[in-house]
Amino acid sequence: MTQADSLHYLSGFGNELASEAVPGTLPQGRNSPQRVARGLYAELLSGTAFTAARAENRRSWLYRRRPSVLCGAYEPLAQPALKTGARDGVAAPPNPLRWNPIAIPQAPLDFVEGLRTIVVNGDADAQTGVAAHLYLANKSMTDTAFVNADGEMLIVPQQGRLTITTELGRLAVDPGEIALLPRGMAFSVAVDGPSRGYVCENYGAHFRLPELGPIGSNGLANARDFLAPTAAFDDGSRPCRMVRKVGGALWVAQAEASPFDVVAWHGNLVPCKYDTARFMTIGSISFDHPDPSIFTVLTSPSDTPGTANCDFVIFPPRWLVAEDTFRPPWYHRNVMSEFMGLVHGQYDAKPEGFRPGGMSLHNSMVPHGPDAEAFEKASGGTLAPHKLDDTLAFMFESRWRFHPTEFALSCGALDSAYADCWRGLKDNFT
Ligand code: FE2
Repeated sequence: MTQADSLHYLSGFGNELASEAVPGTLPQGRNSPQRVARGLYAELLSGTAFTAARAENRRSWLYRRRPSVLCGAYEPLAQPALKTGARDGVAAPPNPLRWNPIAIPQAPLDFVEGLRTIVVNGDADAQTGVAAHLYLANKSMTDTAFVNADGEMLIVPQQGRLTITTELGRLAVDPGEIALLPRGMAFSVAVDGPSRGYVCENYGAHFRLPELGPIGSNGLANARDFLAPTAAFDDGSRPCRMVRKVGGALWVAQAEASPFDVVAWHGNLVPCKYDTARFMTIGSISFDHPDPSIFTVLTSPSDTPGTANCDFVIFPPRWLVAEDTFRPPWYHRNVMSEFMGLVHGQYDAKPEGFRPGGMSLHNSMVPHGPDAEAFEKASGGTLAPHKLDDTLAFMFESRWRFHPTEFALSCGALDSAYADCWRGLKDNFT
């Protein structure tokens, strides 16, 4: 049994959770007693303004061996491939863009060193927008912790298990699962070999479950399937390198002790993981298919109702049964901008060319849709019930146009022949 297999989790999304690694260390009936049991310090981590509406308010109380303020002076740390906000993007033509998978380098890289920003929008200082990064890692973060003050991080592993140590405990996250790590909470990532995946760094309002409207009280991602860690703490005897992201820049400092010294905690600002196989997929059982918003796992709202800063959407295995219906996505131009990735299998609108580990970008008002082969097959095929199986694609969809980074355009993975996939679409008018 590996260490990851022995981890225990708490269930729920946005609810009040509590955990103590040493019985009796979690204060009862108050948050900040004059003296915390066993000499621990009380520390509050807030994820929303104190006065945010009750339904959105997020904070957790941490009871730890030493408060996080104990850290040396920070100095700049270069990580030129990590970019932040629209200002770090470069001009790109309004074409659909697609990238082949980028190989994991041989040179040793940990999760933070291996972040490669592909597209950016918004502004971290203004707490709006997102970035989509790839991580290409082959070594664990040893005695190193990362704190991202710019945004929460939604991690979508594509290859390799991640064991993520956070201040609140440990998560083991396999491809097919996702992890959501709160803004400002220290974490460290261990890998079990060459590892690749996607990250949505969300500078805006925290991700939450979408409203379900007429769907009712169940369905899509169910709250109970989100798993938070249980409290666990280091022995505190080893110094730790603290890497902090603030306003797009990385800073590094030496701390006397590990930030993973939280013995007990309670609250609703927690790291969590979710297995996408638990997503209850809804689709048409008559004709036409619904808008892909029906596949929303998590949403980060903007200040315009119904218009997300970012939606995290998945295209999981599902049955297609609709009658007299063109079953792949329609040809479309959307006001929202779409960044896509593929964890495994094939995506039904692009059976060739869009490969696991690859990416695509269809920005606001850029036309796109099924390739010529998918169109032919879907418009001529027999409409028997059909299972799309062994597949997991996803989308980070944003109201803000994405700007590719210089790395994304020059790394050699950009598929210059992408537009050819539509070239075979003929004028069939009679
Ligand atoms: Fe699209």
